[in-house]
Amino acid sequence: MNELDSLVKQAQELFAACTTPVELENAKAQYLGKAGHLTERMKGLAKLDIEAKKSQGALINAAKQAIEAALNHCREQLALAELNALLKAETYDVTLPGSLHSQGGLHPVSLSLERIEQIFNSMGFEVAQGPEIETDWFNFTALNTPEDHPARSMHDTFYVEGGYLLRTHTSPMQIRYAMAHVQKYQARIDAGQAMPEIRVIAPGRTYRVDSDATHSPMFHQCEGLWIGENISFKDLKVVFTDFCKTFFENEDLVLRFRPSFFPFTEPGAEIDIQFPSGPLAGRWLEVAGSGQVHPNVVRNMGLDPERFIGFAFGMGPDRLTMLRYGVNDLRLFFDGDIRFLSQFQ
Ligand code: DAH
Repeated sequence: MNELDSLVKQAQELFAACTTPVELENAKAQYLGKAGHLTERMKGLAKLDIEAKKSQGALINAAKQAIEAALNHCREQLALAELNALLKAETYDVTLPGSLHSQGGLHPVSLSLERIEQIFNSMGFEVAQGPEIETDWFNFTALNTPEDHPARSMHDTFYVEGGYLLRTHTSPMQIRYAMAHVQKYQARIDAGQAMPEIRVIAPGRTYRVDSDATHSPMFHQCEGLWIGENISFKDLKVVFTDFCKTFFENEDLVLRFRPSFFPFTEPGAEIDIQFPSGPLAGRWLEVAGSGQVHPNVVRNMGLDPERFIGFAFGMGPDRLTMLRYGVNDLRLFFDGDIRFLSQFQ
């Protein structure tokens, strides 16, 4: 074996004995580095004559290629070994519990609101949204509740600078929506032509100074309004009864319209429902206030009460949700406890 062959063999053995990439790169330097064995021999070529240069050069090049091939082979082997070691270290324990990424869902009250909207939509009602920061006029005065009216004392609320307050009910939306509607059809109304009826529900947040198991300072209401030229209390009874039966999926539900006073209705009624069976069987539960819209309110909407008439109601979606799911403390809805909320998904 000539000198170059044994050099190649030596390199091959040295490379194969390396156990880390760093060791291998150091070994490589001994042969192919600046002062490596092969590099030295290349330099030595300069002293030879042209023929010898050719033959020696070819031999040195062949040796160099063989060493490089051995180097690359060992590099691949080491990289593979490293990868295998990594994979081995990372084996998963399939018996460990998995990490759950739970999916969020709608809040139970939002589920009820969606349901309410769907049902009233199917009866031809639009859905409108209004401001939670209201003026005194929309919240009280326009609803036939002037300053110093005793009914205001039941609606204590949060007053905001500049004459604004946090609305105590969704009823101001009756006025806002009706005024916008009237403005749109003013020319037709003035000409004595038919105005498309006002048929709307307005769900949203409302506020009062109140807090116990059945009252929260922030709660939800949903207003309903139907105004036309020939809408009576009978229509209110039909619409609301239909709504409750659909909402609670109970055709045998019984409703009671109990006379009551609201400044913005004449006559007015509280609506109670009675479940025929289940844990609440037999009890009357109040779910809404309602009534025929008071002539003064119709006037404040910009309409002539001699010509236009209708009904309104205001219900509590929180209350409906409690009844539907059998929840006994309203505050649970607003505590944000995931253990409670996740039961509705
Ligand atoms: N706004 C009333 C309240 O919060 C509820 C109500 C009663 C709404 C009668 C109405 C209605 O639209 O006609 O107590």
